[in-house]
Formats: sequence, C-alpha cells, structure tokens
Amino acid sequence: MVATVEKPWGLFLGYLILGVTGSRASDTSSQIVNGEDCSPHSQPWQAALFMENEFFCAGVLVHPQWVLSAAHCFQDSYTIGLGLHNLEARQEPGSRMLEANLSIRHPEYNKPLLANDLMLIKLNELVTPSDTIRDISVASLCPTAGDSCLVSGWGLLVNGRLPTVLQCVNVSVVSEDECRELYDPVYHPSMLCAGGGQDQKDACNGDSGGPLICNESLHGLVSFGQDQCGQVGVPGVYTNLCKFTDWIQKTIQAS
Ligand SMILES: *[C@@H]1O[C@H](CO)[C@@H](O)[C@H](O)[C@H]1NC(C)=O
Ligand SMILES: *[C@@H]1O[C@H](CO)[C@@H](O)[C@H](O)[C@H]1NC(C)=O
Ligand SMILES: *[C@@H]1O[C@H](CO)[C@@H](O)[C@H](O)[C@H]1NC(C)=O
Repeated sequence: MVATVEKPWGLFLGYLILGVTGSRASDTSSQIVNGEDCSPHSQPWQAALFMENEFFCAGVLVHPQWVLSAAHCFQDSYTIGLGLHNLEARQEPGSRMLEANLSIRHPEYNKPLLANDLMLIKLNELVTPSDTIRDISVASLCPTAGDSCLVSGWGLLVNGRLPTVLQCVNVSVVSEDECRELYDPVYHPSMLCAGGGQDQKDACNGDSGGPLICNESLHGLVSFGQDQCGQVGVPGVYTNLCKFTDWIQKTIQAS
C-alpha cells in the first residue's frame, strides 16, 4: 500500500526510529541488510553527507568537484566525507572532509510524489583523485532486468542498528513492469527497482543517495522503500540515472 511505501531512506527522515536505536553497532559482522563489510576503499566514489557532525545521507562522487545524491537529502550546506571506510574514525588515512554550500535539486523532484529524486552538490574545492578517492561515470544505458548490481552504504543493518564500516550488498534489477506493478501508483520512469529476492538483501534507512553500481558504472541512487527493509518480493527503489545524463552534464557545465 502506498501509505507504507513512500518513505525516503534518509536518516533525517528516520530520526524518530533512530532516536531510540541510533547507536552504532560495535560488532561489524552484521549487515547493511544482509550484506557484508565492503573491502576497505573498494568503493572510492562513495561519499558520506554530514550536517553538524551527524551523518544523515550518502552520495557519489561523479566529477572532481561534484557529488550526486538524492534530492530528499537536500540541505543548505554539507560537510562531505570522501575516502571513508569507518564512519567513526576521525581523520582516517586517505579520507577527506570537504565543505559544500551549493546544491541543485532536479527541477522536477517530487513531481509527481518522490519522482526525480536526485541533486548535484558542488564541493567548495576540487578533489585530487587518489587510491581512496575517485569519481565514477554515470551510465547512459539503462540497466536490464536481472542485472546484478552492488549497493553500498552506512545505513541501518538487519538488526536495526548502524554499522561503523561501509556495507556492500548485491541486488538484482527488477523489470520495469514488475516495479510499476509493485509501486503503483507512485511508480515513475525516473525510478528503478532492485532487490526483493529470497536472500532478503536490500538497502535501508540511511543508505539514501548512495550508489547502485552495475557493470562498473553508476546506474542508481538509493531513493526509498518500505518501512521494513529486505522483505521478499519487495525491491528497493533507486533513482534511474540513465534518464538524467543530460541534466547532470548540463548542470555541472553551467555551475
Ligand atoms: C559556506 O557556508 C559556511 C556556513 O554557512 C560559511 O561559513 C562559509 O563561509 C561558506 N563558504 C563559502 C565558500 O561560501
Ligand atoms: C557481488 O557480486 C560480485 C560478482 O558476482 C562478487 O564478486 C562480489 O563478491 C559480490 N559482493 C558482495 C558484497 O556480495
Ligand atoms: C557491461 O560492460 C561491458 C564492457 O564495458 C559491455 O560490453 C556490456 O555490454 C555491458 N553490459 C551491460 C548489461 O551493460
């Protein structure tokens, strides 16, 4: 039902839940939702968004000065962590904390409800690529049902707690027809469904804005899902980035 479906997966929208259970899990053996610890720095485009030192969303470095994230993660300004593995470690080797004051949401965000959930954030300075920090290109070809993709994030684990280190999980792309049927009437072509398999692998609250990587390029951003993550037959919803390559390119060029 729609009422339970429309919950964007940013932590700031999940504060009520997290106020109670928001402490980070000390055992890192538990998962994103049924994923595993990413190999450190294997996702060098992964960004962490902080406001006033609180982690609240993820993003993806798509250019040396631009981070792509979900529009529902919008704020006036951000501190952005790059090259991070452990979110709690201060000054982790190879990591950088950068400020960003400009972000541009897609003009059609939330028209209709939850559609076009992406924004570009301009870092106040250019970053130099390194072993731990690298941008990734946005796919111009749309993914096909059955493609296997990797989603990563510091969002809620299956035990309802937050991990300390970045979590990785493989999910399969679901057909457009199935996605439309499952998320009717919220479904919009700007959305892409993945996951919902028997393995119960999924993204969850706090993973918002993070990358869905298929075939080594960026295809999606974590957008929203059901209250309960990882249910069999209920895939998560991602922003379908192949529809936005022009907007991304033009916006970066113009700003
Ligand atoms: C960015 O915003 C912060 C906090 O509002 C402010 O202190 C800083 O001067 C701004 N930087 C730029 C480059 O606009
Ligand atoms: C995801 O799938 C790839 C390819 O099958 C595999 O190499 C990788 O270990 C998997 N990662 C996770 C976190 O399951
Ligand atoms: C994956 O990438 C390879 C090499 O870049 C390409 O040949 C292949 O068509 C791609 N497959 C899909 C499903 O995009």
